[in-house]
Amino acid sequence: MLKDSDRIFTNLYGRHDWGLDGARRRGDWDGTKAILEKGHDWITEQVKASDLRGRGGAGFPAGLKWSFMPKQVDPKRPHYLVVNADESEPGTCKDRDIIRNDPHKLIEGCLVAGFAMRANAGYIYIRGEFINEAKQLEAALDQAYGAGLIGKNACGSGWDFDIYVHRGAGAYICGEETGLLESLEGKPGRPRLKPPFPAAVGLYGCPTTVNNVETIAVAPTILRRGAAWFAGLGRPKNTGTKVFCISGHVNQPCNVEEEMGIPLKELIEKHAGGVRGGWDNLLAIIPGGSSVPLLPKSICDDVLMDFDSLRAVRSGLGTAAVIVMDKSTDVIAAIARLSHFYMHESCGQCTPCREGTGWVYRVMQRMVKGDATVEEIDRLDDVVGQIEGHTICALGDAAAWPVQGLIRHFRPELEARILNYKGVRSSSSGASPASAAA
Ligand SMILES: Cc1cc2nc3c(=O)[nH]c(=O)nc-3n(C[C@H](O)[C@H](O)[C@H](O)COP(=O)(O)O)c2cc1C
Ligand code: SF4
Repeated sequence: MLKDSDRIFTNLYGRHDWGLDGARRRGDWDGTKAILEKGHDWITEQVKASDLRGRGGAGFPAGLKWSFMPKQVDPKRPHYLVVNADESEPGTCKDRDIIRNDPHKLIEGCLVAGFAMRANAGYIYIRGEFINEAKQLEAALDQAYGAGLIGKNACGSGWDFDIYVHRGAGAYICGEETGLLESLEGKPGRPRLKPPFPAAVGLYGCPTTVNNVETIAVAPTILRRGAAWFAGLGRPKNTGTKVFCISGHVNQPCNVEEEMGIPLKELIEKHAGGVRGGWDNLLAIIPGGSSVPLLPKSICDDVLMDFDSLRAVRSGLGTAAVIVMDKSTDVIAAIARLSHFYMHESCGQCTPCREGTGWVYRVMQRMVKGDATVEEIDRLDDVVGQIEGHTICALGDAAAWPVQGLIRHFRPELEARILNYKGVRSSSSGASPASAAA
């Protein structure tokens, strides 16, 4: 288990003062000026050396992303840091807790990250429903401005840095980074074609980096404790600590910060009170938020919770939202429910996603009943394969992967339901009108 001394989010459960005094007691804002004095590129190099990978889902190396920002600032094209606090992936509930209970980690992170990428302004795009969290964040920003930590001459560093909170209206697609930028500019949140990537043409056409709340919030601790410390946790290329969100059929659903690479079984048994009815009552787990393929118990028995281990079993760490399903779950209905979500959230720009997600949902509805043919399972697999990788943004992939996981691991259940439905129909059609009426 993660040692307490290695914990970054020491107020994840809101047991202590979330405000500036409490944050300072926990070590935040300690030596920030000295960190900034080491220079823009030093910060980026440290984050690179820590092997921190983005915590928003895709796991892209954070330092590398920061290094894509131009080294010179064109006065007509200011640089921007944008923090993604949309937290829309089903099962994911960590960023809101960081904002609610440890907002100064995020604010200090914005300053060091913004400084590293030569930005004088940062935007935090927060999901509209997070009303209390947004208020808390605004209050923490007021404290930071009041103490001279951000704003003009932030922390006495000579660097000006302003932070603005922008509330979204609550659309999943506004969590996709270019959909988010469109929304921030006041337009409908429709993802942009890439390239150009945001580091070249981002917010208002200017160089921009979009990062998840957790990615930014861990940066100051990495810079204070050293890249080697962070890189020493977890496994190579899968380093550091991670906030896992555990929900579903466990005895104690929770958010918990653990070392990257913890075995999935240990994570659930030690922190979430185990699977309801015991480990042997486990059916399947979605390990990284609704977009990643589910894993049957046989894989959950010994898989490790990091990007590369989960990729090796054809799933993903995603947002590290662990959704546990015990044997009482109708797994076909559970995945059909996700198909409905993706159909509902598609922005409609790309034909494979707009048409495909609706088609998939309609077929999945029939699969839940068994009102399909066995051949249609392959057709479904084929169609989701045609959505995957053929769209502007990864929502298309996210719609495909849960269905692919279902077919890969639960094909016998799909077939059994179809055969059972056929059996029920043929036995009821063979019955006499009198007995059918009875
Ligand atoms: C449909 C969709 C929704 C997304 N929602 C979020 C979200 O709510 N929060 C988030 O941080 N990233 C989300 N992402 C990922 C972002 O596009 C982007 O990769 C991320 O914010 C980058 O931050 P990171 O490099 O720190 O992980 C979403 C992606 C897609 C395709
Ligand atoms: S993949 Fe779907 S959500 Fe993404 S841009 Fe295309 S239609 Fe919109």
